[in-house]
Amino acid sequence: MSKSNDERAAHAVDVWSGENRCDPVAMFRHHPLVVPEEELTQAIESERFIIPRYDVFDVELPTLANWLEFNLPSSPISKETRDALLSDILYVAQQVDTINPTKWFRLRIFTERPTTRCGFHVDTVPPGAPTWGAIKVYNGTGTLWVSPKDVRSMDLFYRHLQRHENHRRLQLPDQGHSPCENLTEFCLPYATINHVEPGTTAFFKHINADRHGSDHPTDQAWIHSSPSDGPSRLVVNLSPGANPARYRPT
Ligand SMILES: [Fe+2]
Repeated sequence: MSKSNDERAAHAVDVWSGENRCDPVAMFRHHPLVVPEEELTQAIESERFIIPRYDVFDVELPTLANWLEFNLPSSPISKETRDALLSDILYVAQQVDTINPTKWFRLRIFTERPTTRCGFHVDTVPPGAPTWGAIKVYNGTGTLWVSPKDVRSMDLFYRHLQRHENHRRLQLPDQGHSPCENLTEFCLPYATINHVEPGTTAFFKHINADRHGSDHPTDQAWIHSSPSDGPSRLVVNLSPGANPARYRPT
């Protein structure tokens, strides 16, 4: 009998846990670019290397490679650095496929300064899709996250998320809100905020979209947040997609 996606992912987590920091919902692997990273970092943080927000749905790996070749800016970084970045993004996609085989990928990529708009949240994949994806931040401040053992319940978390969304929708004035301030709404008192180092890929569990908002166990989705300040960052988020012939994102 063939293994289910969950069984394959559990096996990958077992293999990885011997050599990597591991959590039931996330595991971390540091793999710097094979070229000096200063060139890329300086180009991003001086805002000369700019990638607008792209959200590329349901592409296969060869299409993803073509998309990157066509859309990654070719200046002001050298061809060597650009090629290294392209290869690195594809490597992350291949690792996602190793953890939970997926034919279809969704890529979100952008350079942007952090803002206070995005608080703690969980990422989703289409219903039935494999749930392990990845985020890599190449420079600046890394992603913030909380461990599932520190979360009181997902019901409390989603209520917190709804309050944050309402606040954002009403465009209430920014009162210096930062993710840290609301932690007690859904976390235990001793909870701490962890950081992913730039250059480290966080492979993490998404929640199937049809379960988002439900009171599911805390170890089924990675609660994380962008930082609220710092220089412009290059962020790459890769997750399993769905066959576009059977699923249309809305
Ligand atoms: Fe996210």
